[in-house]
Order: sequence, then structure tokens, then C-alpha cells
Amino acid sequence: MTDKPKLRSRHWFNNPDDREMTALYLERYLNYGLTREELQSDKPIIGIAQTGSDLSPCNRHHMELSKRVRDGIAAAGGTTMEIPVHPIQETGKRPTASLDRNLAYLSLVESLFGYPIDGVVLNIGCDKTTPALLMACATVGIPAIALSVGPMLNGWFRGERTGSGTIVWKARELHAAGEIDDDQFMELVASSAPSTGYCNTMGTATTMNSLAEALGMQLPGSAAIPAPYRERGQIAYQTGKRIVEMVEEDLTPKKIMTREAFENAIVVNSAIGGSTNAPIHLNGVARHLGVELDNDDWQRLGYKVPLLVNLQPAGEYLGEDYHRAGGVPAVIAELLEAGLLPHPDALTANGKSMRENCEGKRSINTDVIKTVDAPMLKDAGFLNLKGNLFDSAIMKTSVISQEFRSRYLENPDDPMAFEGRAIVFDSIEDYHKRIDDPALDIDENCILIMRGAGPIGYPGGAEVVNMRPPAYLLKKGIKALPCVGDGRQSGTSGSPSILNASPEAADGGGLGLVQTGDRVRIDLNKCTADMDVPADELASRAAGLGTHPYAPDSQSPWQEIFREKVEPFSKGMTLKGADAYKDIARKYT
Ligand code: FES
Ligand code: MG
Repeated sequence: MTDKPKLRSRHWFNNPDDREMTALYLERYLNYGLTREELQSDKPIIGIAQTGSDLSPCNRHHMELSKRVRDGIAAAGGTTMEIPVHPIQETGKRPTASLDRNLAYLSLVESLFGYPIDGVVLNIGCDKTTPALLMACATVGIPAIALSVGPMLNGWFRGERTGSGTIVWKARELHAAGEIDDDQFMELVASSAPSTGYCNTMGTATTMNSLAEALGMQLPGSAAIPAPYRERGQIAYQTGKRIVEMVEEDLTPKKIMTREAFENAIVVNSAIGGSTNAPIHLNGVARHLGVELDNDDWQRLGYKVPLLVNLQPAGEYLGEDYHRAGGVPAVIAELLEAGLLPHPDALTANGKSMRENCEGKRSINTDVIKTVDAPMLKDAGFLNLKGNLFDSAIMKTSVISQEFRSRYLENPDDPMAFEGRAIVFDSIEDYHKRIDDPALDIDENCILIMRGAGPIGYPGGAEVVNMRPPAYLLKKGIKALPCVGDGRQSGTSGSPSILNASPEAADGGGLGLVQTGDRVRIDLNKCTADMDVPADELASRAAGLGTHPYAPDSQSPWQEIFREKVEPFSKGMTLKGADAYKDIARKYT
């Protein structure tokens, strides 16, 4: 038995070396009714990193759940201090919620570091809240456990499941074809969000909440419980109890989020059909822990893993079905059974290994969570492409449609490879203005390229790489063209784009040099993407670019700071230099 770690909060509230400051800290935290017993005992002070607010409807239910978390903390003998986190609402924040991930990270680091907090419950849910909070606890280094807000209930419209985000793509098609009017369009889209909670499809939210569990940072089975279910309140209570024990055990994030844990998460991401935003966020979290993780790891560990989870957009079901079929433990149990989870002994937040938590908890409904023997699809992971267009770009192969496959990837003379004429757009506005212009003369042998949409260009990175073909091609039945870009794409979209290109055009990447009319070759065997332009021509094009190409003026002070400091998508879009700070909470322990 090791001695219990000394609580860092005692430096504020019970410091024998500095009675004056102790009195000063104490009087102000007593003033709303806390007692000296709660602040000066040997019981830990637990923060709840509160991401729910009226601005953040996906996470708003956390305001209710936190009452149960407090009950759990009190039952285990802790004292709660709720900490407001900078709001991040995926669908509400302009220009993009992605810009605010690092801002929420920074502000939570300061709150956890500079105040008397011994351990923290991370209220995760909406897309960027999960990585922001995991990054913050990684930097600070105090014991932390994540609590998902849970997905919304299934959406329904005229007897069919309607999934958040995914239904928007369908509703747009119906609206454009004149099959539904404006009001029906609103009604159809709103039907996908019937209750509180995060998106019920396998978009970035379900992905990141599932991966937080696969990393070991949540209690087992907790990611997929729908927000309004009673088990959601029950797991909130258990999470509150558990964080108090984790402080006593000094079970810190770096003991859970090891290299092995990230490797497990990459495999789980392929099995669930996770979002292309996952490599950005997990590479970012890993950097703050000093764990080396890059997009080659995603291909090497994840590509050959089968797709098991039949959720929209790749499949048909939604969040309630995922939970009822067994959620993340069932996915991991199927992987364990087939020997595909690389590190079954990885430690998790409840003090047990992944194997102990999940073994035997196999899928209850194999329509929703398939077995490895009969998957939705084999080889469901990401490819990491490289060439003179970029050093790294991700392609989600699990969403390549049969139509796309037969048009571009099944040429017997050139299997898994294709060439096309580049049609280049400098921004999302440029794309909207020109896509239907007949002068571009786009046909099925063209490759659409979007630049100016990366972390610096947009800023934060726009979810715009999945571009629809011009209307005149749609009418001919060509529903998708190959798309390449330095932006992102919504996890709820089913497009096989080549995206997250790093470095981006605004950061000197090769995408900044390609011109409309250039020949571009994509080879999925060799994982290459190149423009057929001689090196001296590329050099002269580079010399002709201005100092800040593809990056319009900033609209706010944070945008300007973000652009100066941000790393490329491949490195997790983190802030330059932030990863030099690790375990900073020790300064006050
Ligand atoms: Fe918040 Fe999807 S928009 S979870
Ligand atoms: Mg999104």
C-alpha cells in the first residue's frame, strides 16, 4: 500500500505553512454555504467541467445529470465545484465550432490548474467538447473521468428512422427536386432530433464518445446510453462516486491514455465506422500526453479492421439501437473474440482492464452490431495518402459507394487508381459561385479540389470537402465525383473524399499550387495523390503566390491568435508549443 497522495486542494484550504492565505481562500469559498469540514477534511474537491448551457443544446442535459454526479461525489465523500467550460455547439457556432476546441481546452487548463481541484468529471457530448476536455485533462494531469451526455432518442418521420445530420443531405435532395416544400423541409430535418442529447448517427459525436470509452476514460457501457434513459442518470451517479476513488488511487490520465489505449481506439474507430474527424482529435489528445500518434498509425492499425456497427450514415440504425445492441462493450467484445483488439489489458477508469470490462458482452442484436465473421464490410479503416499535393490526407474507405467503386476503382488496366482533370476552388464561396457554371465543362473524369478550408484558411477547418457535382451532371445520374481538399467533412456525410490535407494551401501545402486543368492521379494501392506538373513549374507557381494566400482576414481576436499558433490537421490541430506543458498540476501538490 502506498500512502494516499496529498490533495492539491489543501494548498488552498489547509496549508500549515501559510495560514494567512488559507484564511483568505477559505472565507470566500465559505460564503455561499460550504462548511470548513467540506473544504478542510481529507476528502477531495472534484470539479465538474460543465459543457452544458443554453448555447449548447447537445450538452444541455448535463445540467440535469450533474445533480446525479454531485450525489455520487457526496456519497463517496467528496465536495463538488462545477466549472463552466467555454461553450462549443457544433451546429450553432460561426464560422465553425472547430475553431473553439482549442479555446475551450485553454480555458479549462487554466481552471483546473489555477483553482483547488483534485479530480475532474469531464462532461462530454457534442463533437468538439470531447477532444477539448480530454486534451485539457491530459495537460493538467489530475485524475479525470469522462461522462457522455448520451445520444438523442431515434428520430422518426412517417415510420422511417431519421438520423441527425444525415437527414439534412437527404432533405436537401428532396427539396432541390421539388418533392417537399420549405415547411416540410424544416419538419423533416427537425424530426431527427426528438429529444435532448448528442447526434444519434455515427457522426463525430457518437464517434468521439465511443472512442473516449475505448480509450478507457469512461465507465464501461456509458458512451451509448441515450440521454433521456434512466441508466444515464444512474451512470452519472456512479461516475461521481468513481472519480473520488480515482483521486485516492492517483489514477491519472496518462496511466489510462497510453500508446496502447490509442491503438485500441484506432481499431474501435474502424469497427464503428467512425468519423474522419477522429484522427485530428485523437492525434491532438495524444500530443498533449507525449504519445506519438500519426496518420500512418491510423492506416497501419485501422485499415484492415472490419466495419461492425450498422449506424447511419454507413448503415441504417441510430443511437438507441446501438445502445440496445450492447454499445461499445459489445463492439469490443466482438473484436476481443476475434483477437483483433491489440491491447486487451489496457487499464480503464474503473481500475479494470478492457478485457475484464468487455469480454463476453457480445452483441445482443447482430443486425445492429455485427460479428467479425459477418461484418458490414471488410477493411473499413482510413487510408493515409501522400504526394506532391500534400504530406498527408485521409480517405474513409468504408463509405465508398458501389457506384463510385465501379466508376473509378475497377478499371482492369489500372485497378484502385484513377486520373482526372483538376477543377480547383479557392474557398467554399468560390465553389458555390462557380460549380454550376457550364464554362467549367466538368465531366465524370474530373476531380474537384477545395482549398482555403484548413485550420488557417477557414479558420478551424470547414466541413466542406464533400462537394456535390454540378447540376448538369446530377441530371445525367452522376451523383458523386472524387473530391480532394484541405478542409474537413461532417462525420454524418457518406462521401469518400480525400480530406484533412496537411499542410493546407494557406500553410504552403501543394494544394496551393494546383491549377484547374492539371492532371491529378490518385492511387489507392500506393496511397499516393499527385499532380502531374514538373517541379520547376511548381517552383515558379510557388514564387508567384502572395504572403497570405488562401486565408481571408480574421473576424475576431481569437481567430487571429488561433491562425498564428495552430498546427496542421495531421498533428491534431493543436496549439504550437502547448504540448510542452505536461502534468502541470504537480506545481501545486
Ligand atoms: Fe452536437 Fe451533433 S451537433 S452532437
Ligand atoms: Mg461536424
